[in-house]
Amino acid sequence: MDDLKLTSEDRVLILGATGFIGKRLVRELAEENIKMRILARTPSRAKDIAPKGTDAEIVQGDVTKKETLEKALEGIHSAYYLVHSMGGKSLLKNTEFAEKDKKAAKNFISSADKTGLKRVIYLGGLGEKGEGLSEHLQSRAEVGNILSSGKASATILRAAVIIGAGGASYEMLRYLVERLPVMTCPKWIRTRIQPIALRDVVLYLVGCLKNPETAGQTFDIGGPDIMTYKSMMVQYADARGLAKRIIIDLPFITPSLSAYWVDLVTPIPSGIAHPLIEGMKNEVICKDNRIDEFVHIQKTPFREAVQAAFAEETSGPGVTGF
Ligand SMILES: NC(=O)c1ccc[n+]([C@@H]2O[C@H](COP(=O)([O-])OP(=O)(O)OC[C@H]3O[C@@H](n4cnc5c(N)ncnc54)[C@H](OP(=O)(O)O)[C@@H]3O)[C@@H](O)[C@H]2O)c1
Repeated sequence: MDDLKLTSEDRVLILGATGFIGKRLVRELAEENIKMRILARTPSRAKDIAPKGTDAEIVQGDVTKKETLEKALEGIHSAYYLVHSMGGKSLLKNTEFAEKDKKAAKNFISSADKTGLKRVIYLGGLGEKGEGLSEHLQSRAEVGNILSSGKASATILRAAVIIGAGGASYEMLRYLVERLPVMTCPKWIRTRIQPIALRDVVLYLVGCLKNPETAGQTFDIGGPDIMTYKSMMVQYADARGLAKRIIIDLPFITPSLSAYWVDLVTPIPSGIAHPLIEGMKNEVICKDNRIDEFVHIQKTPFREAVQAAFAEETSGPGVTGF
């Protein structure tokens, strides 16, 4: 257990630091005076993420290019793996994302085994295993399994929709509810979900790094409110002081149709929207709260999370990326 404990001399690698969660995580780790190394495909995009004066090195790297990983992992104690390759404009191009993410995780873990990484912390998705699980959620679980198969001790956090400015699922919710007073939605609108505030996710990620007892464990993380997707839209409108939304569920609407619709109404590309909408058929609720024994945080209610996200969104340019 002793070698899993991070000391002030140890450096932590962040993969996905230019992303929605990674950016905020880097800022929180900087507050904690944790030494960092940021791996980025395009280093210029990472240069302003860590506050000035932070001990944060930036290295060029790509998880699909194994040769870049060993160097990035040299001398690293622990790593955050916050990478996925879902995205793009076309649905066709994205049929490959699961395979790509699997290969990337294998590249990472084989390099980490060589350099002696002690811990890896990964954030994946909630959802029960089985045939009914969407391709996106299956892929997230598969990446978690691969990361757990190496010599480094893996901590897997599983979350549903994260409420924060710039998150793909949150932005889909925001644009739809802000723009449409009346909506027709697929039947999965009745599925239950346990959203979580971005701030809480970041605190759990940092808390796990600081507590070596979380190594080798999988935790479900969620906010204090459980709701259906339909109720999430209604509660979003209420938190924002918008007029009551009318939401009609139509069983014949397919995920592809919904994704193209989201593409029309929101800036979220169908390549991201499609796998996320397909995942709406799966209930995403925490099955246990064991994380509370290890990381103590005050959970943010959904209403406050929406208000904080909206405030951040409107506080300056370039926050969301959408
Ligand atoms: N957002 C949510 O609501 C949510 C909910 C539950 C779980 N999660 C999980 O949280 C994790 C992070 O998600 P996110 O929302 O922060 O994603 P995101 O904003 O899309 O960021 C993805 C990150 O991955 C990097 N990346 C992609 N391909 C890469 C490659 N080949 N090599 C190196 N880096 C690469 C991107 O870098 P570039 O800047 O180079 O593109 C970016 O920094 C994922 O595992 C996701 O499943 C997210």
